[in-house]
Parts: sequence; C-alpha cells; structure tokens
Amino acid sequence: MQTITSVSEMQSLAERLRIQGQRIGLVPTMGALHEGHLSLVKLAKEKSDVVVVTIFVNPTQFGPSEDFTKYPRVLEADLAACEAAGVDYVFAPEVEEIYPKGYSTFVIEEHIAKPLEGASRPAHFRGVTTVVAKLFNIARPHVAIFGQKDAQQVAVITKMAADLNFDVEIVVAPTLREPDGLAMSSRNRYLTNTQRVEALVINRALRKAVEMVASGECRVDRLIAEATHLIGQHRRVRIIYVSVVDRLTMEAIKGEITPGRAVMAIAVWVDEVRLIDNEIL
Ligand code: PAF
Repeated sequence: MQTITSVSEMQSLAERLRIQGQRIGLVPTMGALHEGHLSLVKLAKEKSDVVVVTIFVNPTQFGPSEDFTKYPRVLEADLAACEAAGVDYVFAPEVEEIYPKGYSTFVIEEHIAKPLEGASRPAHFRGVTTVVAKLFNIARPHVAIFGQKDAQQVAVITKMAADLNFDVEIVVAPTLREPDGLAMSSRNRYLTNTQRVEALVINRALRKAVEMVASGECRVDRLIAEATHLIGQHRRVRIIYVSVVDRLTMEAIKGEITPGRAVMAIAVWVDEVRLIDNEIL
C-alpha cells in the first residue's frame, strides 16, 4: 500500500492507472476508520481493480461551532486498517494541498441539500460537494462508494455527479451497525457509556417505523409520532429532526409513503454529541 499526500502525484497515478485500463474504486473518508468504512472498502474491491481511500478531514463541511478541531485524527491506525483491508493507495493530503491560499471556488447543489442536514448545518453540503468534486477530479475514479448512513449525502452527491457529468458510478453501501443497533460512526467515539445507551433509542425508533410499515401502517404522521414519542422518553436526547422523506429528492412525504421509496431520517443531540441515522421504509 502506498500513501500519497500530493494532488499532482495522485492525479498522475490515476492517469497511469487509467492508461493501463485499471478500474479505480474510490472510498472518500474523513478517517477515524471503523468497520463501516472497511465495508465500503470491501465493496470497492469487488467493483474495481485498484482501491483508493482518501483520508481528509474537510474543513469546509464543518460549521464554525462544529467539531472540526476535535474531530478524531488517527492517521497511523487508519493506515494500518487500510493496509489490512487490502487498500492499494491512501490519499491523505494536508488542508493547504486541497485548499491552497486564495482558494475561492465551491460546488453547491441547490435543492436536495436544503432540508434536514442542510437546514441545521447550512454550509455542510457546500463543503461536501466541493471536496467530493475535487476528489473525483484528483483520483479520477470509475466508481465511488458512499454509506447509506449518510442518506442525504448520498442523494446530494448522486445529483451533483449527474448534474456535472462526472463519469463515475456512485455505489451505496448499507449501514453497518454495532451488535446493539447503534449505527457505526466516527463520532460514536465522543459518547460516554451512558450517552451510548441513550443513543440506542435512535435505532429503536427507526426499527419501530420499519415494523409499522411492514404491518401496513404507512401514514407519515403516525410513523413520525411514534418515533418522536420513543425518543422523547430519553432526557439526554434532543430531537433535531425526525422526518420521512423521498429517498432520492429528500422532499418531505405527506400523507402515506410508498414502501421502498421513503426514508425515515433522524438527527439528535445526545447531550453535546450530534448523531444521525436513517432507515429505508
Ligand atoms: O462522509 C464523509 O466522511 C464525508 O462527508 C466525505 C464524503 C468523506 C467528504 O468529506
């Protein structure tokens, strides 16, 4: 496995690989890798000849009061995990390499990015689409893998890739969960044991919605009311949103859902830790 930190080196490598006819699979990450990330790597290996993992804590997707400075940075451990998972190249640039002094160009998806995370983290998706567009231009992947855990990110990036004619296949990997149901996330490292137990209600609320739909209850207000009620029983957990949206457009669904098309998306604070999760209904 080789670690690359320079944009020009990564671009030359991608060019060489493409000339050799190799299919490049990209797994963009912000590091602090867990089993969920490694499942994306596994999928990338199935879908490509050469796997590139990017590790870059992207400053432009964090708001001023968010956790950019305290976001876990454990490069040595991440490189060891990538090596063990059979990654071919890690691209791990410094911030100045991606955003040199005077950087002033951003990519904005103007519709899907607006609700949910977009409403509570206004500059978030502008940062995500900008860095992902840059990573696509730098690593020139044929296929890029993203996790369903970030359902809105998947929808926004899929739209951006289509709108800007990126010649890359976007593949979505299912959410990996801890045995107790908590969705794997780098931010789980922030949780104390007590907070972690409280956080389990997110998955319970989502599972309840899935069960309700399976037993024929498709009314959005009933699904949201039940999830909100379950979460409301936990003093440390404050709801940011509980929404049922179209899985492609992220538009709120009114009335009844069509099973398979909808996502219940939840964001909460568990004390000062912000967590998101979702299930396809
Ligand atoms: O999902 C993430 O970790 C990030 O949003 C991404 C896609 C790597 C962009 O920084």
